[in-house]
Amino acid sequence: MFDSSSCDRILIIGAGGFGRELWHWLQAAAADGAVPARVAGFLDRDPRRLDDTGIDRPVLGDPATFQPAAGDGFLLAIGIPGVRRAVASDLLSRGGQLLSFVHPTALVVPTARLGAGAIVCPLAIVSDAVTLGRGTLVNYHASLGHDAATGDFCVLSPNAALGGHARLDDDVFLGLSASVGPGKRIGARSKVAANSAALADVPADTLVVGVPGRCSPLVDKSA
Ligand SMILES: CC(C)(COP(=O)(O)OP(=O)(O)OC[C@H]1O[C@@H](n2cnc3c(N)ncnc32)[C@H](O)[C@@H]1OP(=O)(O)O)[C@@H](O)C(=O)NCCC(=O)NCCS
Repeated sequence: MFDSSSCDRILIIGAGGFGRELWHWLQAAAADGAVPARVAGFLDRDPRRLDDTGIDRPVLGDPATFQPAAGDGFLLAIGIPGVRRAVASDLLSRGGQLLSFVHPTALVVPTARLGAGAIVCPLAIVSDAVTLGRGTLVNYHASLGHDAATGDFCVLSPNAALGGHARLDDDVFLGLSASVGPGKRIGARSKVAANSAALADVPADTLVVGVPGRCSPLVDKSA
């Protein structure tokens, strides 16, 4: 399910909703003996984020300043591609390693290739000859058809779907139930909105909305 053999302790990066989900899946898998129960805690900017959640693990620090120990393994529980990339690069530059996780109910065909730090959630399907880039997240019920590929740090939200031979470049975000037609390519950092369908190639830094998807330049709202 995941290779944590080379790490001494597991840290979940992000104690928000997705981090809590990941925690519960790991606990259940550990109870079945499928993964070692070695989650030491979480990293999050808010030290109180797990208060009243029933999770008995500490927030050990802020990912921006945390100094990893040798043997620390990170599971990225962050849902925004650029933030996944930035937090991972920052942490890895100080040590530690990215861990991958595949939930036992996911269907991952043996011919699929998963990059370091890929996460495949319950009931997802990763089909024949699919490639998942480094740090890519495939949320529950999402699917990638045969020969589909993602770049690094992409996020497929629940029920998102890639047709056969579809391709996501780095840092692409697919919203809930978003889809990409067979063989179509989505440029880096683009977003396909919830319930929208990208049925043609899409350039980088583009927002795709509707069915069939209409493209507009992505507006950076972080400034
Ligand atoms: C992709 C997304 C994040 C982009 O957000 P954004 O950059 O803030 O874009 P906005 O919300 O400002 O939308 C831009 C325009 O597209 C429209 N739009 C956005 N999403 C849409 C959708 N799914 N269907 C139809 N129209 C949509 C908006 O109404 C807006 O139109 P306007 O310019 O005429 O007002 C957002 O559209 C989206 O899909 N959110 C859902 C995220 C999600 O599924 N998360 C999963 C969590 S598990």
